[in-house]
Amino acid sequence: MSAKKVVDADAQKKAAALAALELVKPGMNLGLGTGSTANHFIRALAEKVKAGLEVKGVPTSKATADLAKDLGIPLTTLGDHPFLDLCVDGADEFDSELRLIKGGGGALLIEKIVASSAKQVVIITDESKRVKKLGAFPLPIEVVNMGVKATAWKLERAFRMFDMKPKMTMRAKDSQIFRTDLGNVIIDVACEEIKDPDRLDFALNNIPGVVNNGLFIGIATKIIIATSKGIEEINRK
Ligand code: 5RP
Repeated sequence: MSAKKVVDADAQKKAAALAALELVKPGMNLGLGTGSTANHFIRALAEKVKAGLEVKGVPTSKATADLAKDLGIPLTTLGDHPFLDLCVDGADEFDSELRLIKGGGGALLIEKIVASSAKQVVIITDESKRVKKLGAFPLPIEVVNMGVKATAWKLERAFRMFDMKPKMTMRAKDSQIFRTDLGNVIIDVACEEIKDPDRLDFALNNIPGVVNNGLFIGIATKIIIATSKGIEEINRK
């Protein structure tokens, strides 16, 4: 039962990725997201590149850079191309107002820098990521390691101002503190439900030591959702 669900979700991720590929035009500079859904897009894009499509990609993580390089997608940087045409990435959660939680793969900061540099930001996803209210997925907060305990109590204080008492966990991998590609650490915050994502986003990013948080608000221009009934889209008005 659960194995079948995984297979279906992956097929949906691939279907959403293929739908996003249709938005890619020759000559575009593209933001390349991170995660299993973004990887489907990168693999499909590489087939087009092999067939002669000329594009360049700005990767949002070392993992994405490695995959894109292996597959022969030409890479560039925001230094050379500070304005991107299109960024395609996955998400951990989205709501009907194109607000997202991202960062499950630990790439939230670079993903946010790259996405916010693109004219079109297309989120590709399976239907399991759709929520009425954000917050079931623990909110990742990227934090400078220096003073992390002090930053943690300031985070707790900020959440209390929103009548939230969430459980905070320092992200670990292989029994070690997880480090992002930029050398920061991540505090995952189990919120259950975020009542006011717009104000919370602002409050969290205002805490010294917080580099950024996984709420992506006002960034996505389109969400492509592959469902059991076909492809759906939510577009920014
Ligand atoms: C990585 C991300 C990913 O987009 C998010 O975790 C979704 O991953 P997947 O496509 O594997 O479900 O934000 O930091």
